[in-house]
Amino acid sequence: MDNKYYVTTPIYYPNGHFHLGTCYPTILADCVARYRRARGYNVFFLTGTDEHGQKVEQASSKCGKTPKEYVDAIIAEAKELWRTLDISYDKFIRTTDEEHEKAASKIFNKLYEQGDIYKSEYEGLYCVPCETFYTKTQAPDNLCPECHRELQTMKEESYFFRLSKYQQKIEELLTKNTNFVRQERTRNEMYNNFVKPGLEDLCVTRTSVDWGIHVSFDPKHTIYVWIDALSNYITALGYSSENDSLFKKFWPADLHIVGKEIARFHVIIWPAILMALGLPLPKEVHSHGWLTDGGAKMGKSLGNGFDPFTLIKYSSVDALRYYLLKEGPLVQDTPYSVENYVSVINKDLCNMLGNLLSRTSAMAEQNFEGELPSCSAIIAEEDDDLLMQLNGLHNIFIKEMDNQETKKAIEGVMSLIDSANKYIDATQPWNLAKDETKRDRLSTVLYNLTEVLRVSAIMLSCVIPSTSIKILNALGVKEENTTLDSARYVTGRKDHISKIAPLFPRLNAQETITNITKG
Ligand code: ME8
Repeated sequence: MDNKYYVTTPIYYPNGHFHLGTCYPTILADCVARYRRARGYNVFFLTGTDEHGQKVEQASSKCGKTPKEYVDAIIAEAKELWRTLDISYDKFIRTTDEEHEKAASKIFNKLYEQGDIYKSEYEGLYCVPCETFYTKTQAPDNLCPECHRELQTMKEESYFFRLSKYQQKIEELLTKNTNFVRQERTRNEMYNNFVKPGLEDLCVTRTSVDWGIHVSFDPKHTIYVWIDALSNYITALGYSSENDSLFKKFWPADLHIVGKEIARFHVIIWPAILMALGLPLPKEVHSHGWLTDGGAKMGKSLGNGFDPFTLIKYSSVDALRYYLLKEGPLVQDTPYSVENYVSVINKDLCNMLGNLLSRTSAMAEQNFEGELPSCSAIIAEEDDDLLMQLNGLHNIFIKEMDNQETKKAIEGVMSLIDSANKYIDATQPWNLAKDETKRDRLSTVLYNLTEVLRVSAIMLSCVIPSTSIKILNALGVKEENTTLDSARYVTGRKDHISKIAPLFPRLNAQETITNITKG
């Protein structure tokens, strides 16, 4: 097995406050990174910020700050948010980092020297907020196809990247390697809208933007933010620097997680740049949909974003993570509503998971003083279904998580938890406890329940990490025994179970909705 795993989030524009939608790709990447670590991979998880360009230049001048002062404040907020959300990144790259600027500049020069970048003149339509050029065909009504704002006509001396040269290779990539972009919708869209009509060379510098990396041999030009931004995935690993050991170890990326509006840059432009640099391509780009509110993308500029800190205040970090990983826009756009949030958290985390743990730990403490009842040989009919489901879950969970199918993976675990709650109803351990002769049976039932909890907590540790630790601590499971490989039913474990406070206090629907809505 190739034992390394390199996963990245998009690097964020520091142009406003983070909201629930912006948390999505990073929580998804964190879940994948934790899952891979639990499987024994050596993981490198990268996130960061995309700090250059006109958007930041304009936003900073509006509040009377220099771009650097402006971005520093937002970066502090981003880091605080990721710390709060238990994001286990290995590196936070800023495109204003000196090492990144140096390496991105070297990349540009290399492409220029080998003829993949050339100088010409650009006249076209440009969307300032999206930092994207469009052709007349892409924007016939002069409006940005993404944000629907008016486009500006720009004419300037520019450097161009020879994207057209990679037409055939990109075509092959999209048609032959279906693992590269697993979502068929994105693959078709990219192919039909951009590749099939013919790839056009891409303007990669600006003379009207000062806040960026200046072209070393022609400094009135700054490198177009996307070339600067995309190269972060390799500069973060030390590509073209004195110490490129991380690059040698982790490149190519195993997974880039990106929103659908930036899929084009990752599925077409980034592979073409890598081809030009003679580097291997990322193994997969996962393009997710949007969290929406009132039918529109939750966004920084639209002002319809839910504040994650408010949600956490009235529920918890793990509730927020669970919600996004189970109900979030993995592929399709998904509406967010506080009502649905409250209902999912109450049903899944309070009623199903929380109840199973409190019932099991209370009965184990009452009847066995917390000494985990070892499994006796008596297997009754009602055990079979539960144990079969438990034994089958390992493969299902791995298969789903290998494809980032977090919803299906979580549903598999929740279905086991549901069965375990039904198993309690069927076996009625409180009645078994009344009869001394049924002590063995009681011990088997409780043992099976603790095994369900142990296996579920290990699996869910990539989703709700701090809750999983609480459950595993309550079950007396040691940290070294929490790899995914140990998430299978075993007999004869002997540990101490402690009673534990409710994991997720029930959210009062009306109160939560009022609190969250008013912020
Ligand atoms: O695009 N639902 O940065 P960004 C789901 N700097 N995801 C959302 C979302 C929503 N409502 N709103 C935003 C950029 N996102 C570039 C990336 S990578 C080399 C450069 C996601 O701050 C969005 O889809 O505008 C994107 O993946 C991420 O937040 C950062 O967006």
